[in-house]
Amino acid sequence: LSLVVLISGGGSNLRALLEATSESAFPARVVAVGADNEAEGLGHAEAWSIPSFTVVPSTFESREAWGEELLEQILRWSPDLVVCAGFMRILPPNVVRALSPRLINTHPALLPAFPGAHAVRDALAAGVDTTGVTVHVIDEGVDTGPVIVQRAVPVHPGDTEHELHERIKTVERELLVAAVRDIAEQTVDLEELAAR
Ligand code: GRF
Repeated sequence: LSLVVLISGGGSNLRALLEATSESAFPARVVAVGADNEAEGLGHAEAWSIPSFTVVPSTFESREAWGEELLEQILRWSPDLVVCAGFMRILPPNVVRALSPRLINTHPALLPAFPGAHAVRDALAAGVDTTGVTVHVIDEGVDTGPVIVQRAVPVHPGDTEHELHERIKTVERELLVAAVRDIAEQTVDLEELAAR
């Protein structure tokens, strides 16, 4: 299964995917990494000699134009699956329509709780004692697509956003690699999931 992974930041989820997919027994390979900026995480792609591309929204006239260029860059690699791993942009409808359901995202909360770009901060502010991780298919909503897998993560009293996010990320990396393996081995059928 060939993957294109999209990132915006440090890329710890990408790094976990690069480590897992470098095992010859793992049924997926990262063929390219895309970013919306000169993300620090692109260093992981370089370290693993994986090609990368950046498509920066501010250099385009519109979100749609940015989306079209991003889609073109993605499709060059003919991926079987596109993985958003800390990609902090909403994909325009034309991109989602072209890729979904072979398009998944990892979100640092138990969707539908705490959607959006500040899930960890929002969970802390809400005072919940449990939050978690969700890997889901991206549909045309924001963090609303069918759930592939979720796992709870405890909030500890006095957690800072960073401490809680790091605890979430340790689970997130594991869940994302497992979800990609399940999709590659067809234990998870994305078309069936999306058709429900
Ligand atoms: C992840 O927790 C992801 O769910 C969220 O931002 C974080 C990105 O972390 N959207 P990294 O770039 O993979 O280290």
